[in-house]
Amino acid sequence: MKFVRSIMKNAALASLPKHIEHFSKFSPSPLSMKQFLDFGSINACEKTSFAFLRQELPVRLSNIMKEINLLPDKLLTTPSVQTVQGWYIQSLMEILDFLHKNPDDHKVLGEFVDALVTIRNRHNDVVPTMAQGVMEYKDAFPQDAVTNQNIQYFLDRFYMSRISIRMLINQHTLIFDGTTNPVHPNTIGSIDPHCQVGDVVQDAFHSAKMLCEQYYLRSPPLLLEEINAKKTRQPIGIVYVPSHLYHMLFELFKNAMRATIETHGDRELPAIQVLVSLGGEDMSIKVSDKGGGVPFRRIDNLFSYMYSTAPAPQMGEHARPPLAGFGYGLPISRLYAKYFQGDMQLYSMEGHGTDAVIYLKALSTDSIERLPVYNKTALRNYKVSQEADDWCIPSREPLDLSNYKVAK
Ligand SMILES: Nc1ncnc2c1ncn2[C@@H]1O[C@H](COP(=O)(O)OP(=O)(O)O)[C@@H](O)[C@H]1O
Ligand SMILES: [Mg+2]
Repeated sequence: MKFVRSIMKNAALASLPKHIEHFSKFSPSPLSMKQFLDFGSINACEKTSFAFLRQELPVRLSNIMKEINLLPDKLLTTPSVQTVQGWYIQSLMEILDFLHKNPDDHKVLGEFVDALVTIRNRHNDVVPTMAQGVMEYKDAFPQDAVTNQNIQYFLDRFYMSRISIRMLINQHTLIFDGTTNPVHPNTIGSIDPHCQVGDVVQDAFHSAKMLCEQYYLRSPPLLLEEINAKKTRQPIGIVYVPSHLYHMLFELFKNAMRATIETHGDRELPAIQVLVSLGGEDMSIKVSDKGGGVPFRRIDNLFSYMYSTAPAPQMGEHARPPLAGFGYGLPISRLYAKYFQGDMQLYSMEGHGTDAVIYLKALSTDSIERLPVYNKTALRNYKVSQEADDWCIPSREPLDLSNYKVAK
C-alpha cells in the first residue's frame, strides 16, 4: 500500500510542472468585499465555493510559483527558500487531488476543508523562513541595487499573494466548518460588516502597550479622535477584516512607542495621537508620534525588506515576541492596506516626529482584492539590468575651478 502511494506521489510530482504551466496561464480573479460577503451569506453554497477554490487556488499558487523560479539562483538555492518552495509544491498537489472529485459528495467537501486547514498550518512560517533565506543571502553575497530591487519586487508580490490565498482559505474554512464565531457572532468568515475602527485602534494600542512596558517599563498614552464626515458624532464603521486592520495598527504603534521612548528617555512621554476620519471615498487613520522622526532620505528604506535599525531578534520557541527587529513591520502592513485597494504612507519631520497614514476604501464596493499576475510585464521586471543613472552623481571632490581660468 505504502509502495503504491509512493509511486502515485512520484507520478503526481512528475506531472506538476505541466499543471503549474497550465494554471499560471490564467490570471487570478480578484474578489470584491461584496463577493466575499455573498459567499458567506444565508444562501452560502459550499459546493460553489469548493468549485471556485479548486480552480482559483491552483491559479494563485502557480502564478507566484513561476515568480519564485525567477529569483537569483543564489537565493533560490538557500535551504530556507527551498523549504518554502517545497511547501508550495506539496500544497498545490494536495489541492489538485480534488480536481476530479464530486462536489455533491459531502465527504469530499469535508475532506476539502481539512485539506485547506492542513495547508494553512503548513504555511504559517513562510514569512520568517523566507526572511531567513534573504538574510543568509544578504550576509553571503555583496549587495547590488538591481538585485535588491528584484528581491523587493518579488517579496511584495509573494507576500501579497500569500495574504490573498490565506484570505480565501480562511473564508471557506470559517464559513463552512459549521460553527459560528463565539466572540464575534456577526462576522462573516474573517470579515466584519460593521468593523468599529475605534475599537480596533484601542485593541492594537493595548497590545503594543503591553509589549512596550515589558521592554521599557513604561509607555506613552493614546489620544484618539474620530471625524465622521458622513454621520457626525457616530463611531466610524466599515466593512473590513478586523485582523488585517489590527495588524497594521499594532505595527505602527510599536514603532511609534519605540521612537517616542528612545527620543524622550526619562522625561514625560508625549501622547501618540490617532485621528480616524471617514469621507465619501476614503477611511483614513493617522498615527502621529513625537519620536524624533526619520531623515527624508531614509523614508523609502523603511519599506525595504532588507532594512531595520533594530538588532535582529532571536528566533526560536522561547524567544519573547520582539518589539522590533526584522524590519518587516512596515512593508507587510503596507501590503495589508494595499490588498483591498488602500495604501500606507509615512510623513516624517526629522527632529520632531512621524505621521503614518493608513488609507482604506470607505465603500465595500471599492474594496477589491489587488493581486499580482505573472505575465510578460512581470517577467520583464525580473530582467532589469544595471544601467547608468540618467541623473548626474554629485562628485565628492570640489571642482577645481582654477583649471577654467582664462588668461586676462
Ligand atoms: N514612527 C517612527 N519613528 C521613527 N522611526 C521609525 C518609525 N517607524 C519606523 N521607523 C524606522 O523604520 C524602521 C523599520 O520599521 P519596521 O518596518 O517596523 O521594522 P522594525 O520595527 O522591525 O525595525 C525601524 O527600525 C525604525 O528605524
Ligand atoms: Mg516595527
